[in-house]
Amino acid sequence: MQLDGKIALVTGAGTGIGRGTAHRLAEEGAFVYVTGRNLEPLQAVAADIGERARAVRADVTDKDDLEQLANLIRDEHGGLDIVFANAGGGHPIPLAEITTEDLDRQFGVNVKGVLFTVQAMLPLLRDGSSIIINTSITADMGLADFSLYAATKAAVRSFTKSWTTDLKHRRIRVNGVSPGVVPTEAYTTELGMTDAQVQEYIDRVTPEVPAGRVGSAEDIGDAVVFLASDASNYITGVDLVVDGGMTAVYAGKA
Ligand SMILES: NC(=O)c1ccc[n+]([C@@H]2O[C@H](COP(=O)([O-])OP(=O)(O)OC[C@H]3O[C@@H](n4cnc5c(N)ncnc54)[C@H](OP(=O)(O)O)[C@@H]3O)[C@@H](O)[C@H]2O)c1
Repeated sequence: MQLDGKIALVTGAGTGIGRGTAHRLAEEGAFVYVTGRNLEPLQAVAADIGERARAVRADVTDKDDLEQLANLIRDEHGGLDIVFANAGGGHPIPLAEITTEDLDRQFGVNVKGVLFTVQAMLPLLRDGSSIIINTSITADMGLADFSLYAATKAAVRSFTKSWTTDLKHRRIRVNGVSPGVVPTEAYTTELGMTDAQVQEYIDRVTPEVPAGRVGSAEDIGDAVVFLASDASNYITGVDLVVDGGMTAVYAGKA
C-alpha cells in the first residue's frame, strides 16, 4: 500500500492506459477520480475499482469542466496528491496533409489539455505532491507521418522540466512517463487499425523489445505508482521511458 490515503486524479481513465493506471493507484491505497468525456466507461471503471474510485465527466480542453472537477475534489477530499495527466491521442498524418484542424485537435487535447488540467488542480495540490504527464517514445523517434503527434509529446515533456522549477517551492515533483508499444483501444479508435492489423503489428514489433513482449496498461500504471510514491522522492523533471527497453537498445527500428 504505497499510496495509502492519497487522493489521485487520472484523466482519460475510461479506457487503455488511464484505466489500467487507475486500477494500480487504487490497489496501492489511493482514492482515484477517473475522468474523461464519456461517463459510461468511467462508471464501469469506477464500479470495477469499488469504493476507492469516483467517475466524473470532464473534458480536459474545457476550463469550466476542469474548474468544476477541482471544486468537487476540494469539497469531497480537501486536496489532491497525485495528478496523472494521461488524456490524449493522435494518429499519423503525412506532413503535406496536416490541417489547422488537425493541429488544433492534437495540440488541443495533448498540450492544452495537460496544461489546463495541471493549472486547474494547482490550488488543490498539497505540498510534496506528484504530477505525472503521459508523454511518448514517439517524441524522439522520427517516425514517418507522426510529426504532429510527436511534437505534442515533446511539448509536454518540456513542461515536466519547466514546472519542476516553477513548483519546487512547494516540493511538487513533475515527471513524465513515456510508454512504448501498449496496445489499447486507441489502436483501433485513433489509429484506425483492425484487430488483425493490431496483432500483425504486435508480432512484428515484439522481437524488437528486449523484454520480449509489448507493454500493458498496468506496466505504465506500475511506473506511475512509482513516480507518485515516496520511493521516487528524489526524482523530478525526468521522462521515464517504459518500453521494455525498445528505444534504449533498438532506437529507430520499430
Ligand atoms: N498506447 C500506446 O501505445 C501509447 C504510447 C505512448 C503514449 N501513449 C499515450 O497514452 C495516453 C493514453 O492513451 P491510450 O493508448 O490509453 O489511448 P485511449 O485508450 O484512447 O485513451 C485515451 C483516453 O483519453 C480520453 N480523452 C480523449 N480526449 C479527451 C478529452 N478532451 N478530455 C478528457 N479525456 C479525453 C478518452 O476518453 P473519452 O473519449 O471518453 O474522453 C480515452 O479514455 C495518451 O496520452 C497517449 O498519447 C499511448
